Amino acid sequence: MSTIVYVPRDAAALAAGADAVAAAIERVAAARNAEVTIVRNGSRGLLWLEPLVEVQSEHGRIGYGPVALDDVPSLFAAGFLKGDPHPLCLGPVEELPQFRLQQRLTFARCGLGDPLAPMAWRGLQEARKLSPEAIVQQVLDSGLRGRGGAAFPAGIKWRTVAATPSKQKYVVCNADEGDSGTFADRMLLEGDPFLLIEGLAIAALAVGASKGFVYIRSEYPHAIATFEAALAEARKAGVLGQGFDIEARVGGGSYVCGEETAMLESLEGKRGIVRAKPPLPAISGLFGQPTVINNVLTFAAVPTILERGADFYQHFGTGRSRGTLPFQLAGNVKQGGLFELPFGLTLREVVFDIGGGTASGRPVKAIQVGGPLGAYVPESQWDLPLDYDAYTAQGLVLGHGGIVVHDDTADMAQLARFAMEFCAVESCGKCTPCRIGSTRGVEVIDRIVANHNRPQQVRLLRDLCDTMVHGSLCAMGGMTPFPVLSALDHYPQDFGLVDESAKAA
Ligand SMILES: Cc1cc2nc3c(=O)[nH]c(=O)nc-3n(C[C@H](O)[C@H](O)[C@H](O)COP(=O)(O)O)c2cc1C
Ligand code: SF4
Repeated sequence: MSTIVYVPRDAAALAAGADAVAAAIERVAAARNAEVTIVRNGSRGLLWLEPLVEVQSEHGRIGYGPVALDDVPSLFAAGFLKGDPHPLCLGPVEELPQFRLQQRLTFARCGLGDPLAPMAWRGLQEARKLSPEAIVQQVLDSGLRGRGGAAFPAGIKWRTVAATPSKQKYVVCNADEGDSGTFADRMLLEGDPFLLIEGLAIAALAVGASKGFVYIRSEYPHAIATFEAALAEARKAGVLGQGFDIEARVGGGSYVCGEETAMLESLEGKRGIVRAKPPLPAISGLFGQPTVINNVLTFAAVPTILERGADFYQHFGTGRSRGTLPFQLAGNVKQGGLFELPFGLTLREVVFDIGGGTASGRPVKAIQVGGPLGAYVPESQWDLPLDYDAYTAQGLVLGHGGIVVHDDTADMAQLARFAMEFCAVESCGKCTPCRIGSTRGVEVIDRIVANHNRPQQVRLLRDLCDTMVHGSLCAMGGMTPFPVLSALDHYPQDFGLVDESAKAA
């Protein structure tokens, strides 16, 4: 009987040599007359273990990892096809503490098998039994908030589009995923693309849209290929093509193209420049038509809500942050990866209990949460619950769930400088506080570090940040001060200041 061996085809596993490992397993199996069926699955998200090979044995599904090419002969010799011990043996993957702590709703299927294997579309079937209003109500009742950054209630957006009369409406999925340390959208596109298609099809039913677009960043060639293949399969299955279809579009390669109105411009074939709001895209979006715009993770949460009910989904989480967030742990961390958790755990639990602390073994100094526009969170705030409102109350953001860890060798003044430089490079240029302010910000930080009239320059930096926060047209310029000021406030010594003078300046 043939033994099923899973070798991920996710880009993170491929980067770690998964293709060569799969080929070696096939080769050695043939040489030993062992029958194996290799399934190229998505990733389980335990990225420090990639390539994470799993074997369907009589003891269950047993994991081995990280598997290097040279390990393959010894795995066969140790009897890994029977799930036997080997130094790389991890036991059942779902029993690993980093897996058991999770609550995988959106990523429930990701990594289990072939991402393009036929599926039941249960969420869509349930949606088809409901009126459009009832679908929107389910999403409202679930408490689902946008997972792309701003955490706006998804149901309210959908209700606005549903209520706006128009012959043509669109659903647009934002898969630009530009935030540092984030890869959840990519993992889902590669590991369970049908879930996103299902979420988009449900949204289309709810608001009366006939066309969907998925805007995928150009740096994700594997995700684009898998998603295109999934679209073709969904058309064959009759899920798409009858009253609703989806097109994948490759992004323009700039961070600001992830801002929803710049994305619409880019989708319309123009330069990715931010539009002034109002009008909201829900009223006048793509080609001037009512448009639902949501992140990959927002749409992908919807099938579970429809299949298992709003009550089931909103039972997870805390306060007004309902459900789960797939946190992505990256940077200087021992066990990086994607961990889907209900809102409410603390950063300390995620970084230390799940992530195992730094990869370097040195103390953690700062943790940036929420992408390049998110603040650096100092140790005094590591015990806050990871929930949208608790974070906002402290001037922090959860954003798309990206967590980037830095050890005590990090120079926070240079990281603050990088935030301004990033804004200068990525600014769309439409408004002055961001376009000019970010460049001046780099210069001011350089002068602070070089001790050119430091106290005056610190005051200037604070004034500049104030202007950017209050005068920028979008969150690019409006939030760049978050990492800058958090670095200055919590790590003044890195700017050549002592604690008191940074606050007073
Ligand atoms: C500079 C900038 C970059 C952004 N990049 C992304 C992105 O890559 N992906 C994303 O979903 N949202 C991004 N957003 C947020 C979007 O503007 C928008 O709020 C989101 O796509 C709406 O979906 P959601 O409600 O499901 O979060 C970005 C916002 C800004 C200001
Ligand atoms: S804040 Fe920056 S990115 Fe946003 S509109 Fe202004 S110039 Fe463009």
